[in-house]
This record gives sequence, C-alpha cells and structure tokens, in this order.
Amino acid sequence: MQIPLNPSVMFQQQEKERILWLRKELHRHNHNYYVKSAPEISDREFDELLAELAALEALHPDMADPNSPTVRVGSDLNRDFRQVEHAYPMLSLGNTYSREEVRAFYARVAEGLGGQPFEICCELKFDGLSISLIYENGRLLYAVTRGDGVRGDDVTENIKTIRSIPLCLSGEASTLPERFEIRGEVLMPWESFERLNVERERSGEPLFANPRNAASGTLKSKNSAVVAARGLDAYLYYMPGDETPCDTHYDNLQCAAHWGFKVSDAMCVAKTLDEVYDFIDYWDEHRRELPVATDGIVLKVNSLAQQQELGYTAKSPRWAIAYKFQAERARTRLLEVTFQVGRTGAVTPVANMEPVQLAGTVVRRASLHNEDVIRQLDLREGDFVYVEKAGEIIPQIVGVDVSARADADAKHVEFVKTCPECGALLVRYEGEAAHYCPNYTACPPQLKGRIEHFVSREAMNIDSLGPETAALYFDRGLIRDVADLYALRVADLCGADRSREKSAKKLVDGIAASRQVPFDRVLYALGIRFVGKVVAKTLAAHFRNIDRLRAASVDDLLQVEGVGEAIATSVKTFFDDERNMQLVERLMQAGVQMELPEVVQASDRLAGKSIVISGTFEHHSREDYKAMIEAHGGKNVGSISKKTSFVLAGANMGPSKLEKAQKNGVPLLSEDEFLQLLNGE
Ligand code: IVH
Repeated sequence: MQIPLNPSVMFQQQEKERILWLRKELHRHNHNYYVKSAPEISDREFDELLAELAALEALHPDMADPNSPTVRVGSDLNRDFRQVEHAYPMLSLGNTYSREEVRAFYARVAEGLGGQPFEICCELKFDGLSISLIYENGRLLYAVTRGDGVRGDDVTENIKTIRSIPLCLSGEASTLPERFEIRGEVLMPWESFERLNVERERSGEPLFANPRNAASGTLKSKNSAVVAARGLDAYLYYMPGDETPCDTHYDNLQCAAHWGFKVSDAMCVAKTLDEVYDFIDYWDEHRRELPVATDGIVLKVNSLAQQQELGYTAKSPRWAIAYKFQAERARTRLLEVTFQVGRTGAVTPVANMEPVQLAGTVVRRASLHNEDVIRQLDLREGDFVYVEKAGEIIPQIVGVDVSARADADAKHVEFVKTCPECGALLVRYEGEAAHYCPNYTACPPQLKGRIEHFVSREAMNIDSLGPETAALYFDRGLIRDVADLYALRVADLCGADRSREKSAKKLVDGIAASRQVPFDRVLYALGIRFVGKVVAKTLAAHFRNIDRLRAASVDDLLQVEGVGEAIATSVKTFFDDERNMQLVERLMQAGVQMELPEVVQASDRLAGKSIVISGTFEHHSREDYKAMIEAHGGKNVGSISKKTSFVLAGANMGPSKLEKAQKNGVPLLSEDEFLQLLNGE
C-alpha cells in the first residue's frame, strides 16, 4: 500500500527542489552575464529569481549553502583575515622593456630546450592584484591574495562578491579535478573606477590613483558589502600543479573557460618570434579599448612538459616573462600652479601647463595632489616637466627636466598659505598630507559643493537642480545651505515676467518630493566625511534615527560593523559642531526623514500566513507591501506553492504565476481586498 505523503512535507520538498533549480539557473545567468557578456534574461528578471531564492532560503535554513548566488550581495561582518599558505609559491615574473630583451628571452628558451620546437602563449598582463582560488568538488573553497608569495590573506568572503568568479563550476562533475587551484588577477574596470572616484570626491574621501590601488583597497576591505558595491572583475590566467586537465597552458585555460571562469579572449599561441612581436604591437595600440587596465604582455612557454624542463629561478619561472608597455610620457612647460578648494575644504594644487599631446588627448592640467608631492619633485617656477598618464586616464607630473632649467636659483613653487577662495588661513592636520580651508560656514566652494552633493542623484535626488543652477541660486543669495532649499517658493525662482514658472514649479515639486527620501540617503546627503552610501546605510540601520546617532560616542560608533576610527571620529566631529546640529534641526523641521520607519507589530491579522506578492500596484510600492505583511505577522515568500495562503495580486501578474496559483488552489487578493483585510473590514 502506498502511504500518501503529508502535503506539508511534499511542498517543502518542492521548495527545496526549487532552491536547487534556482541556484543552478542563477549561476548560469551570472556566467552568461559576467563572463560571456551575453545575458539571456533582463536584470529585473534576474533580480526576481534572486529574490525568490533568498526568500526560499530563509524558509529552509537547512538548505544553507556558502556558495549560493545569494552570497554575492556581501555581508557586513567584520573579520580579520586568516593567513593561508600557498600550495605552490606565488612567484613574480621577470620584466622586459624592449624587443631586444624579448628576443633574448626567446633565445634562452630555445637554448634551454636544446633546439626542440616550442610555442609561446601570448597574453595580456592585467594590472590588478593576483589571487589564488581553490576549488574542491567544483565549488569555490577559498581565495587567497598573493601576500608575501608564500602565504597570503584569506579573502574568500570578499571574492565571493565578484560576480565573474564562479562559485560553482559548470560542466560534468566527472570531468572536474576533485581539487585544484587557479590563479588570476582581480581588477577594477575603468568604469567602476571612475564611478568610485566621483563618489569618493563627493564624500570627501581621498581618490584612488589608479584602478590597481582601488582594487587592492577594496579587496582588503573588512566589509564585503563595500566590496560587492564596487564592481570588481577577475580574469584567470594560470593553473599551477601537475594534475591539470591538459598538456598545454593554452588548453588548460580554454578548459577553465568551459568550467565557467573568465579567461581573456586576447590570447594567442605564437610559433615564431615575429608572431610574438605582432601580438605585442597589436595590443600596445589596442589596449586602450579594453575595459580594464593592462600594463604589458605575458609570454609563457605553452607546453607544460617544456615548462618543467626549463624550471624556475629563486624568484620567477624561466618559462615565462613579462613585457611592460612603455608608459606614454610627454615633456612640456609649467605655466602656473593654481589651487582648487573642494567640498570638504581640501585644497588641491593643480599644475597648468603648455598644452601637450599625450596618449590621444591634449593635456593642459595635472593634479599635484599636495604639498609633499611638490616638494618631492622640487618643482620650480617655469620648469619643464614630464607628464605621464597614470593608468592612462589622469595625467601626472612624474619628473622635472632639470637640465632645461635656465636659472639654477629659480623660485620654488610654494603652497598657498591662505584659501584662494575666501582668504582664510589654511590648516594642515597632523598625519594628513592635505591642507584644508577651515572656513566651513562661509567659503563659497565648500558651501556650493555641499549643496551639489545634497541634491545629487544618489543623495536626495533633486534632479531638476543641476550643479550650475545650484551655483546660480547660491550666488544670487537664494540659498546659503541645504535647509534653505525647503523654503524656496515658485515666486522666488521665476523671473518677474513669470517666464520660468514651469521649471520653477518642477524644481519646487522635486524638493518637496525629496522629503520622502529615506533616512540612510539623507545621512549620505549630509556629506559627513568618510560617510559614503554603504556606511550611511549601515549607520542608519544600526542607530535607526538621528537622535541616537548624534548621541553616539566614538566607542558606540566603533561597535558598528564596518565602522573604523576614521569614520567614527568624523561622525562624532560632525555632530559635535553646533552649526551642523542647527542644520539638521532645520532639515527636520522641513520634514526631511531623520529616522527609519519603525518596524512595529501592527497586528497579528496575517499570523501564520505565507503570502506571495506579484504584479504591479497602485496605492503602495512592493517594498511597502512587504513591510506591511511583516508588520501584521505574515511571511513574505517568493514562489507559489500549496502552502501559500494567498497571492497579493497587483496588475499584470505573470501568466505562469497565475496558472500556478490556480493549479495549487491558492486564492488571489486584489490590492484593495488586501488593504481591507488589514483594516479588519
Ligand atoms: S602568470 C608563474 N599571467 O603579473 C606565473 N601573471 O609579476 C604566474 N599578471 O603577480 C603569473 N597578468 O599578478 C600571469 N596573464 C598573466 C598576468 C599575470 C598579470 C600579474 C600577476 C603576477 C605579476 C607577475
């Protein structure tokens, strides 16, 4: 006799199967998107699947998987890195800078192999930081930085947030080695790098000089949510060990690509020295089109048996070498050093030079960063300087052509003593390289900069107020600080002839709408030094409202995961300043959100109910409905099963969900019916 399954057990089983299916699908879509750059589904559909998986995982803690696609979002856990010894030391490569040196390498290899024919695998030299990944049974076990070459930091949690690194490998389990190591480079693509620096400038943090520093700073972060937000990428280029799947380096990498790793397409197997030169010449020119930074070419003997024959020196393999691209450099004359004041009051010296052509653009200005840099260069007025493009984007002065200095006693370039904008005496804090203008309340670029930051898209999102208009209103005396925005009326903004009434109204409406911006973004908008978006979110979630935050001591702040000395001190200093407190008070009066909504238990009307939300809504957002369900004791679930109590069905509910609800006999509640239910009607 067949014993019927308990329905609840049966549905639990279905949900578990769904979890497994979703994980597989999401791994596949991740691969399509991040490695193959050929997504099959929209970002939104991807997010929906991910949300469904997260909801199901929450219901089935016994199905937890450290390699689930849901771990990509990172966590706020603060950890110290564990040290891990490398199974094979992580060596560096010998560097060459000229064709002659490449020819010499080629000749050494030929000689070392006693005249056997050989091939050279030519690759790009990625300019990031190296990483070693260990996989066991097709799953990422841990990820370790190069460290000192013998042992490195275990940065597994951070690495898991990099979406192009597969957590689970594709391909038949039987074809995968049980355990293997693969090495590659973690990079910050140009696009992420530029975005990050714009954000850092806004929140008053020092800029990263190049994507390599940015990638390295990011990977060492103790907060994997920060890592997740920064858009790192990774290319894999080497499988050490004796038990690799193929006999040649090239085939090993192609195999790795099949398993799901991101392997560069820019690779070729050269049979002659001329083919090696062709590869170098091609990429010396075309590397500028790549989405990531490269600083040369790596040449590797392709056959693994031949690699073994050639062996290693103490520092590097004899079977491989790096050829470094020449950094593009130009010589030009320094005309004048001017000083720029930023939103935080930091004063940056800028070299203005005679225009010069460099790597495809005309360069006129270069940042000199701070006084120490000027001193190190021993920069004198009228000097001829050498300019290079650091990471090919930001021009840097790398040296002075001293031989061209007409007057040996030429005047040193001096850092200004007073603010070029407001005349205040500059200060330099202990341990910092930058000079600051301390005139927080009256220095125009600081005031304007804070307004610009406040209204920016990622802060209060008052998009009808661009930087130029904000500066104009500031200059006209209409706004002195961000709280003044909330007092603006249409009549203040349109001309006497009311010609600009429409745009003025749009702006006033935009400002009014910003009253709904949640507290964490308001906190970011305040422009507290070192409080970027992620930190603002963390602080808001921890303290819940501005009163508790402003009452927090440095020690209280340090208790928050992801908050270190610099952030804690900066937050404390901000709220200790009476002027900031007054500003916050005025913003509060204006109706700006200064707390996160309370998660209060409104009722237990939905206790024991599992509810699926589907479709689009008129009265409240999907997020609001989720919060309401929880507030009334219900549970949000991602997918429909027989256990689902009902579906909160908005407009445009997908046909497959509809069918599933019907099949499982799950009732649908409209938005209005749901609201009536909550109101006890
Ligand atoms: S192979 C034993 N291939 O360059 C050979 N390295 O000084 C291991 N790098 O630390 C390295 N692109 O971080 C290899 N296509 C590439 C590379 C590459 C960048 C870095 C790597 C290493 C350094 C060599």
